[in-house]
Formats: sequence, C-alpha cells, structure tokens
Amino acid sequence: MANIKFIKEDKEIVAADGANLRFKAIENGIDLYTFMGKLTNCGGYGQCGTCVVDIAEGGQNLSPRTAVEERKLKKRPSSCRLACQALVHGPVSVITKPDKKKKSQAASEPASSSAADDAEATPATEASAEAVERSS
Ligand code: FES
Repeated sequence: MANIKFIKEDKEIVAADGANLRFKAIENGIDLYTFMGKLTNCGGYGQCGTCVVDIAEGGQNLSPRTAVEERKLKKRPSSCRLACQALVHGPVSVITKPDKKKKSQAASEPASSSAADDAEATPATEASAEAVERSS
C-alpha cells in the first residue's frame, strides 16, 4: 500500500503497490490535464506528454522513468514524470499541472526553444505535420 498526496488539491489517497499514478488520480477525481490536454490526451499510452506531474517527494518510490518519459520530458526537471507511465510503490507527493516557467528555468533554454517544446506536447500538431509531409 502506498499513499499518494496531491498537493494542489490537498487530497491524499491510498493505492495498492504497483498502481498506475494516472489511473489512481482519475479514479479519485484529480484533474491531471490542462485544457489542451483534456482535448488531446492519448488516454494513458505514453504518446502525448500531457499528463506531466512534478513529484515533490518520494520520487524514489515510483517505477524508473521509461524510455518514453526520457524522450517526452527531456526539457523538464528530473522530478517530472508522465503520470500514465509511473507505477507507485511507496508514498509520494504529487504536483499536478506543473508550471511551464519552472520547466524553462530548469532547462536554461533560450525562449525560442519553447515553441518546439510546445509542439512536442501536442500530438495534433505532429499529426498535422506528418500529413503535410505525406501529401507533398
Ligand atoms: S496520457 Fe498521454 S502520455 Fe500520459
């Protein structure tokens, strides 16, 4: 058993060992997604990157980052995870919808790189780009 504390929502839930963080959040009415994430999320298949959460405490109690997370979260702090890819094995404290400003400060990237990062987080944009490439 593991406790998952959602800091912004001030809610703590109990999960079985190995529970999926996204599933437990949704099951307990925790809103993981921004407006665009609600419209474009992949349903928990690690494809969209919209279920980003920041792990304030207990990151060691989650399953290791997957290859998908390493790719989708390369410009985020190491404390960020994709909720759909993280399995809970012990107590964790979670910040939902982490601030993008924190991301850019941590990555120390120039402002021009944020547009590329935004495109990465919206699969609809990627799909559109692929469609254009195929049609030409
Ligand atoms: S819900 Fe799409 S990556 Fe997690």
